[in-house]
Amino acid sequence: MKSLIIERYGDISAFKIKEMPVPTVTKNQVLIRVSHAGLNPIDYKMREGKLRLFNPLRFPQIMGSEVSGVVEEIGDEVTKFRKGEFVYCRLDKDRMGGFAEFVSANEDIIALKPETLDFATAAGVPLVGLTAWQVIYDHAHLSRDNKILVQAGAGSVGFIASQLAKRIGAHVFTTVSDRGIHIVEEIDVDHVINYKTQDLDRFKNNFDVIFDTVGEQTLINSMKLLKREGRIFSISGIPTPNTADYMGYNTFCKVLFWFASYKLRKLAKSFDGSYEFVFMKPDGNQLEIIAKLIDKKELKVRQVREFHFEEHHFAFRLLESGEARSKLVFKIGDNFP
Ligand SMILES: NC(=O)c1ccc[n+]([C@@H]2O[C@H](COP(=O)([O-])OP(=O)(O)OC[C@H]3O[C@@H](n4cnc5c(N)ncnc54)[C@H](OP(=O)(O)O)[C@@H]3O)[C@@H](O)[C@H]2O)c1
Repeated sequence: MKSLIIERYGDISAFKIKEMPVPTVTKNQVLIRVSHAGLNPIDYKMREGKLRLFNPLRFPQIMGSEVSGVVEEIGDEVTKFRKGEFVYCRLDKDRMGGFAEFVSANEDIIALKPETLDFATAAGVPLVGLTAWQVIYDHAHLSRDNKILVQAGAGSVGFIASQLAKRIGAHVFTTVSDRGIHIVEEIDVDHVINYKTQDLDRFKNNFDVIFDTVGEQTLINSMKLLKREGRIFSISGIPTPNTADYMGYNTFCKVLFWFASYKLRKLAKSFDGSYEFVFMKPDGNQLEIIAKLIDKKELKVRQVREFHFEEHHFAFRLLESGEARSKLVFKIGDNFP
């Protein structure tokens, strides 16, 4: 099967299109004939080896973290899916394999694709949808009394997170620049801050919860915006010891994360707040709920822009430049409805 792989860590030049064997399924797995696969920052971070300490790759590695497609085959003990059903999923970080004509995955991380989305649009939902869901519901336990700042409302994760927070009834602020303003205009938030032209300092001590999707200086600058006992959750900062526990990483990782995140945790504490890092986990049940919200028109998703494998250099350059104004997906299979 045609696949986009890497045989070493590196920049865009590490990608290769190669024929690879079609995966087999174990008793709890489903083989998906892939229609589309979403592109995400995690794909180039993995390619560059930034996560190799706790997610080392085995080469040759088929890249690709999320897909939409059709169930081609099921393992003997699969109960949730039947051949021919339309599905979508976020693949496990340590297996990936979405940039290929077929991929196998455990049934518990798969869900039926939203009926109202085409395969291309559905392929761009699982990773960002689950990330937003898990931060807002599982980690922040956001409530309607909370005031939340979602950094980067025009970004793929921020766009969904802002809507979920609003759905709960929280008071939602988000940041955006001129180039993303038309994107957040599509959704209902209480306050939009232009992070390029407006001084965020005027929102000092304002938020119960901050969802940081940007990291680095933006994360550091966000700390002073926390209210007393406010909580900041980042998906782009530095993992903490709790992250290691949550992900089931070993003690070495836990100690490493303790040292690496020390300054951020201390900074949050100096504002009487707390800092946590969240790694999203694949989850079929949550994807099912997300699909229902999309189909009920209660959750909007970003428009997608399609590329073929052969255009992977261009597509990844666009993604890595931060200039992609849509969700990027590869069109992989043919003859899908
Ligand atoms: N930990 C996890 O499990 C996890 C899961 C998913 C994603 N992530 C990470 O989360 C990050 C965001 O992912 P994404 O898919 O949402 O990225 P994306 O779609 O590329 O969005 C990036 C957005 O960041 C905004 N931005 C850039 N600089 C900013 C600043 N200083 N302040 C506020 N906004 C700023 C841009 O907004 P404008 O266009 O308005 O300028 C852009 O829309 C990536 O680093 C990704 O690797 C982590």
